[in-house]
Amino acid sequence: MDVNDEERLTKPSSVEMEEDAEYRRQLNLFVQSSTEKGIELFKIGEIVAGLPRRRSFLDIGAGGGDLTIPISQSFDETIVVEPNEKQARFLSRRSPHFRIYNDFWEKVDLTSKHYDFILCSHVLYYIEEGKWLTTIEKMYAHLDRGGVLLSSSNPP
Ligand SMILES: C[S@@+](CC[C@H](N)C(=O)[O-])C[C@H]1O[C@@H](n2cnc3c(N)ncnc32)[C@H](O)[C@@H]1O
Repeated sequence: MDVNDEERLTKPSSVEMEEDAEYRRQLNLFVQSSTEKGIELFKIGEIVAGLPRRRSFLDIGAGGGDLTIPISQSFDETIVVEPNEKQARFLSRRSPHFRIYNDFWEKVDLTSKHYDFILCSHVLYYIEEGKWLTTIEKMYAHLDRGGVLLSSSNPP
């Protein structure tokens, strides 16, 4: 579902998420205390610069958009899949031009759309290890020819 369509917005039903305030506190802590973000952005910038096309960017599990927002500037359109309702709404308000799906990657239906760059940063450890292969296969299925899929998964 698309969070931009308020009437169709429903809360994801089954995920082990912290209470909103606690979740937000943990995520902020993770971002603020991590020197990795700057390095990650620098490396992603190099990858994005080497892409044959920079039309569409898909960010899976965008959180508060710390990577999404700067990276989106290199693309014509940015699509986000984020199951946490508060994060999805925050990002929708912050960047109304993003197309945001308030859903889990495993469940979301993006039809047959393909993307030039797919990012899945610090998300896989929220997903059962036994499901990683099918999860990544689904990402590859949405990758355009010459595109790049980047997943980083070291727990904070
Ligand atoms: C640690 S944050 C990472 C945020 C951002 N990608 C970054 O690297 O700064 C993990 C995010 O993944 C989201 N998430 C958790 N399970 C997910 C799933 N099954 N599909 C998509 N996103 C998921 C969470 O809601 C959260 O916003």
